Amino acid sequence: MVYIFNSFPADIVIAANAFIIFLGGFETTSSTLAFMFLELAANEEVQEKMREEIRQVEAKYKEITYDSLHELTYMEMVIQETLRLYPPFPTIQRVCTKDYAIPETDVVVEEGTIVVFPILGIHRDEQYFARADAFEPERWREPRAPPPPGVYLPFGDGPSSGLLQTFSFPSLSFPLVPFQTPRKPIKAKQTKRHVQTTGSSK
Ligand code: HEM
Repeated sequence: MVYIFNSFPADIVIAANAFIIFLGGFETTSSTLAFMFLELAANEEVQEKMREEIRQVEAKYKEITYDSLHELTYMEMVIQETLRLYPPFPTIQRVCTKDYAIPETDVVVEEGTIVVFPILGIHRDEQYFARADAFEPERWREPRAPPPPGVYLPFGDGPSSGLLQTFSFPSLSFPLVPFQTPRKPIKAKQTKRHVQTTGSSK
């Protein structure tokens, strides 16, 4: 990034960053919600549990506020599971800044190499997540052992990932609040998934 940005005037860099915030904030949120509704329609038990939790928290506080969002713990598990199966960024990239010998191998990643991390493949790898292709929010119920480092990366890795998560959970949760209002849950006419991946990160 530094290599690239240093060669552009500051106003271009500012405009580019504004565009990243716009694109990063909208497309990621809308596609996550779309995939979540697909899974909720196919998994009515999960849907009803989430609706019931919203009803309870709303009844307790009369309305859902930013603070009460933190009590929607089941919804958070549903969001985490959606982001595991459908990470809006299926890969992230890094530029290698100095030669790096991968331990216990003959491989040297040379300075300047662009390294791609296959997030989608890792998220659906059975070696890290049992029944990796299944939508199971319960796998995120606390207490649980956290996934090993580098295994669950819907927000990427490094200093900005925590900040992104803090920004994103409210924007994913608030649109779900009115979801408890209709009397009948949403139902899928067919539950066969149209979006499937093959292979793993191995
Ligand atoms: C479902 C929601 C979201 C997901 C899954 C998501 C995911 C990601 C990922 C994977 C990256 C790349 C990080 C990396 O390379 O390590 C990224 C970057 C970024 N996202 Fe998002 N994002 C989401 C929502 C948002 C929102 C709501 C905003 C702002 C309002 C935002 C702003 C940004 C920005 C500014 C970057 C660049 C950060 C940097 O270069 O350090 N994103 N996002």
